[in-house]
Amino acid sequence: MTILITGATGQVGGTAARLLAASGESVRALVRDTSATHDLNGVQIVGGSFEDSASLKLAMEGVDTLFLAGRDSPDTVALLGNVLQQAQKSSVRHVVKLSAIGARPDSSVELMRDHYAVDQMLKASPLCWTLLQPHLYMQNLLRFADSVQHEGKISAPMADRRFPLVDTRDVGAAAAAVLRNPTAHASRTYQLTGPEAYSYDDVANALSAVMQRHIIYEAVSPESFEKSLVESGVPGWRAFDLAHIASAYGAPDCRVSPDFKELVGYTPTPIETFFKDYIGAFSK
Ligand SMILES: NC(=O)c1ccc[n+]([C@@H]2O[C@H](COP(=O)([O-])OP(=O)(O)OC[C@H]3O[C@@H](n4cnc5c(N)ncnc54)[C@H](OP(=O)(O)O)[C@@H]3O)[C@@H](O)[C@H]2O)c1
Repeated sequence: MTILITGATGQVGGTAARLLAASGESVRALVRDTSATHDLNGVQIVGGSFEDSASLKLAMEGVDTLFLAGRDSPDTVALLGNVLQQAQKSSVRHVVKLSAIGARPDSSVELMRDHYAVDQMLKASPLCWTLLQPHLYMQNLLRFADSVQHEGKISAPMADRRFPLVDTRDVGAAAAAVLRNPTAHASRTYQLTGPEAYSYDDVANALSAVMQRHIIYEAVSPESFEKSLVESGVPGWRAFDLAHIASAYGAPDCRVSPDFKELVGYTPTPIETFFKDYIGAFSK
């Protein structure tokens, strides 16, 4: 049985591919840039992309389980839809898709509407499926590394709400656990969160403790955050989603989920450990 990993040069797919290869699974990765795979030891590399159907056909030869993960874009639904179409013409039987907590058709942000659309497409197909729905990634906080370093603050449009941020390394470990034995997880949706829900004041306090330096959280409006992203060159569609992401989560979406521990057997990474592991990025 060969497992095909997409998004393997990314955070979650990369972790999943490395863990599966290290435990002796037959793992193949579809990558756009085959020179960017130095950390994928033991993984068979196939060049290709979601746009290129011929490359998908080749990559799926002899594959029965596919991990579907990509980067948000205005073309997500068409691109991932193309992958699902190719999968149905191939030996693939089971697709494990990286989705998101908050994926729904009437979400305020496009990336959640897109996840919902692709999730529904997969569920309506003859393929077996499993959905992995993480909450916000702790690694998103790396975007604030410069302002932490130079201004001692995290300015974000997250108000005073609490979010159970999850480490992408845990999401990758959960993906590997499902991909090893997909049949046991057929037709299941797993919500992947950290061990507790954190306010951004909690986040700043945890970073302060690890850095031994006072870091503050400054709540900013979604509108001013969006404007500053656009001014720094972020495309409008992306700036809107990043600025308004908090509104994509209702209160039930922000509960801590037991699913990670059930899948992997240990407690997910707390924010303090995340900051200890990534301290170099914040103090360069
Ligand atoms: N950020 C969050 O808080 C959060 C929370 C929940 C869910 N999510 C979801 O997680 C996903 C992103 O996961 P991630 O952070 O692990 O990914 P990532 O690090 O952003 O990497 C994206 C991966 O997708 C690949 N890719 C992009 N476009 C492609 C294409 N056209 N053809 C083939 N491969 C393509 C990239 O390849 P290259 O290296 O060639 O670019 C890369 O390997 C998104 O769907 C996002 O909505 C994010």
